[in-house]
Amino acid sequence: MSSYRQLGRTGLKVSEVSLGTMAFGRWISEQASAEVLDAALDSGINLIDTADVYGKGSDLGNPDSTGESEVILGHLLKERRHRIILATKVHGRVGSEVNDAGQSRYHIFRAVENSLRRLKTDYIDLYQVHRFDPNTPLEETLRALDDLVRQGKVRYIGASNYAAWQLAKAHGISNQLNLHRFESVQPEYSLISREIEQELIPFVQSEKVGVIVYSPLGRGILAGKYRAGEAPPEGSRLAAGEKRLQQLLEKRHSLTLPEALKALAEQRGLTLAQYSLAWVLSRPGITSAILGASKPEHITEAAKKWHERLTQEEQDEVDAIAANLQAPRDPVHF
Ligand SMILES: NC(=O)c1ccc[n+]([C@@H]2O[C@H](COP(=O)([O-])OP(=O)(O)OC[C@H]3O[C@@H](n4cnc5c(N)ncnc54)[C@H](OP(=O)(O)O)[C@@H]3O)[C@@H](O)[C@H]2O)c1
Repeated sequence: MSSYRQLGRTGLKVSEVSLGTMAFGRWISEQASAEVLDAALDSGINLIDTADVYGKGSDLGNPDSTGESEVILGHLLKERRHRIILATKVHGRVGSEVNDAGQSRYHIFRAVENSLRRLKTDYIDLYQVHRFDPNTPLEETLRALDDLVRQGKVRYIGASNYAAWQLAKAHGISNQLNLHRFESVQPEYSLISREIEQELIPFVQSEKVGVIVYSPLGRGILAGKYRAGEAPPEGSRLAAGEKRLQQLLEKRHSLTLPEALKALAEQRGLTLAQYSLAWVLSRPGITSAILGASKPEHITEAAKKWHERLTQEEQDEVDAIAANLQAPRDPVHF
């Protein structure tokens, strides 16, 4: 069973591994989503992450999201709703009208009602802005979110894909205006995406902000799914043409690092997916890792070993391997 960690400075306890539902209604059917959700709840996961933009639209090149992930969760949760911490997001384009995106008071108030209706619930535990909105004053966004908390529609607010300076700016405004502040961040973090270690992690540690990281398995790359020169496995997200996954594969050591870490995982009696998740959960500042799953086996495999942690020596060994793979190969001329 999963263990639980305190979300930042709040009293809320969330499972160290959470379930991401970006695949629901986009790459997998409602029936397959039900199996994944059951496996997650059976293993003790209590935090479920979705977004108003997760749905078929993303793959059809449709500018308007179709919201299937929230719809499917609404169908499936029913009497289990009270057992889970339900997190969703606002920002992405959900319609063709000019104000059907972003973080204006106008859009946030409409978006939250649509999410509540699709999720068949009257409250959202964690309402997150999906990314920074440079076109709306933060004060407008934070006042709108604060109103939702005071109305009881939202319990906590969080920010996804924020840089440290953006979070610092938001916290300053919340503090000055006595508004609820962002209690969590949701950045990308994995063995092949470590940018947040520079600025965001030190900042959130000093401010006691919860850190719920996404794509801990590098969208499948760190489960060892893909090999250079080989066609992607049938049914995988690469085969389905996921653009962000294609971009991630362009990073210098995306394919060589998982290959190099296989032996270390084996020595520990772990699969590469279990090892990659254990690495994320061993790192400082991390509250929960949002695992994506298109099959219940993805959850059950992870659950067998999710109390495993890497020692500092093991993490240092990983760093040395990664540094070697990233080192420039061509002579440098000054
Ligand atoms: N805030 C944001 O901007 C943002 C962005 C991205 C994601 N997210 C959130 O984070 C969640 C997780 O993201 P993610 O799906 O990219 O995370 P991930 O855990 O890095 O990747 C999940 C994928 O890895 C593969 N996988 C998982 N376990 C496996 C195993 N044991 N063996 C082989 N393959 C395995 C599956 O790929 P296949 O399905 O191809 O088999 C699965 O879909 C999303 O659902 C969403 O809630 C948020």
